[in-house]
Amino acid sequence: MEFSQRVAIVTGGASGMGAACARALAAQGATVIIVDRNVDGARAVADELGAPPPLAGDVSQSAFCNQVAESVLSEYGRIDILVNAAGIIKRTDAIETSDEAWRQIFGVNVDGIFFLCRAVLPHMRAQQRGVIINFGSIWGDIGAAGVAAYCATKGAVHNLTRAMALDHARDGIRILAVCPGEVETPMLSSERAAPPTRAFLDDLADRTIPVGRLAQPVEIADVVAFLASDQASYMTGAMVTVDGGFTAR
Ligand SMILES: NC(=O)c1ccc[n+]([C@@H]2O[C@H](COP(=O)([O-])OP(=O)(O)OC[C@H]3O[C@@H](n4cnc5c(N)ncnc54)[C@H](O)[C@@H]3O)[C@@H](O)[C@H]2O)c1
Repeated sequence: MEFSQRVAIVTGGASGMGAACARALAAQGATVIIVDRNVDGARAVADELGAPPPLAGDVSQSAFCNQVAESVLSEYGRIDILVNAAGIIKRTDAIETSDEAWRQIFGVNVDGIFFLCRAVLPHMRAQQRGVIINFGSIWGDIGAAGVAAYCATKGAVHNLTRAMALDHARDGIRILAVCPGEVETPMLSSERAAPPTRAFLDDLADRTIPVGRLAQPVEIADVVAFLASDQASYMTGAMVTVDGGFTAR
């Protein structure tokens, strides 16, 4: 994999899998622009990578997403790779999900991906080259209890990804979703009454995941880097599951 001369935008790059993707792409020579609402976290990862200053803001706002595309284009002249990893979770069933929570999670997980894709696609089409990788989830294809809105957002991401891949298949643009299973990132602990203990997580993994352990962020990021590379040149419109066998049953 070789990304020198390639410019990549990675949302959610301050933490978890977004940060791991930023590291994986930068390690192969890409210029990585991190986009995240967590200013300090984004700066820390950018500094670690010697990457350009991150762009801080909220991807659920279309004006911010347009501004991201414009500022990357004016600074670097091109956008080759977009990784949409920013996301949030709500751990409630439908009855317990407020209007506000529903709109918030759709705002980040779905609107955010749509707005950024819409902002970069005209440029990628003009370039006749580009790769977009959206973060879906195993919960976008199968259901899970207690995370109703989250499952709905990931289902939307999967089919938005397929539809955009078809629209732009002849424009030299490949559009894919990566669909992780349970990955050890801060999200795994978020929106819970108390952070899960190591013993709880190990037991969960042992009981529910065929390989018997949670994924590490780098194990997803390495797949994303492959998908972004020319070695995956015939892949578009695919939901790429990386779940330790979870959905094989
Ligand atoms: N952790 C898992 O088990 C898992 C499994 C499947 C899919 N996913 C998906 O993978 C992606 C990355 O998740 P993660 O586990 O690395 O989470 P994480 O919580 O470690 O990182 C998410 C990042 O997104 C940023 N973010 C959140 N809302 C934002 C907004 N409105 N604007 C800009 N940035 C925002 C956060 O600041 C954070 O840096 C998400 O889309 C998530 O839904 C996670």
